[in-house]
Amino acid sequence: MSTVLVQLTRRSFGQTMRKGAWWLPSLLTFIVFGSFVGYSTWAAFQGEHYLFTKGGAHYLSPFYSPELIGYAASAWFGDKTGWMPAWLPTLFTSPALLILWAPGGFRLTCYYYRGAYYKAMWADPIACTVGEPRSGYRGEKKFPLILQNLHRYFLYLALLFLIVLAYDAYEAMWFTDPVTKQAHFGIGVGTIVLTADLICLSLYTFSCHSLRHLIGGRKNELSKNKTQKACYDCVSSLNSRHMLFAWISLFVVGFSDIYVRLCSMEIWTDFRIL
Ligand code: FES
Repeated sequence: MSTVLVQLTRRSFGQTMRKGAWWLPSLLTFIVFGSFVGYSTWAAFQGEHYLFTKGGAHYLSPFYSPELIGYAASAWFGDKTGWMPAWLPTLFTSPALLILWAPGGFRLTCYYYRGAYYKAMWADPIACTVGEPRSGYRGEKKFPLILQNLHRYFLYLALLFLIVLAYDAYEAMWFTDPVTKQAHFGIGVGTIVLTADLICLSLYTFSCHSLRHLIGGRKNELSKNKTQKACYDCVSSLNSRHMLFAWISLFVVGFSDIYVRLCSMEIWTDFRIL
């Protein structure tokens, strides 16, 4: 049997024999993820219209939760003017800037998003069997991409944020009577939006690859511990849909901020169901 040696030549950037629309997923990622980053950055710098209290409601935008400092009546540590130095430009006194780095860091270092935005934002790698723009490979072992390895620590913070968001969803179920000052149970559209936000972010967080590893990925004989095995199977099942949860939670968390913002600006009306 004879053997034929074929010399492979390196493809130039973007060169490929693929026929389909291989570039479409990256283009969609560029538009959708880029829009989300743009909107959330804008919203984080606004510093207002993040809390809706009309009609006794208490809807807090997830971009501003936990509200460490902010409005005197609702923030954990009171009015932001008592904390922010007077020389700081107003733009940088937004309460969201104190906390948004944690969920933002969690999403930016996510294993799924890394694969998606490396392709979409700087085309490296651009796609399977498509010519790449570089000749060397530094991977994630050198600065700045080595910082992506912080993902597991952002996960711990994300789990704490879920507790806070659960409390926000609970608060959104209670409406204070303006006359008697008594709080009573109720459901508005905002209650549903903030509860959906909690559910979607929980599915995204509990399907995280780092959580899966934390629960059982480092064990040689996982089946010896039945509870741990059950948790691992549960996270593994969610993990198989991680990409789906990543996109759904992105839309819902962005919409939650838009909903609270527009209700607070009295552009939208929050309808009460109960
Ligand atoms: Fe996506 Fe952890 S891998 S959130």
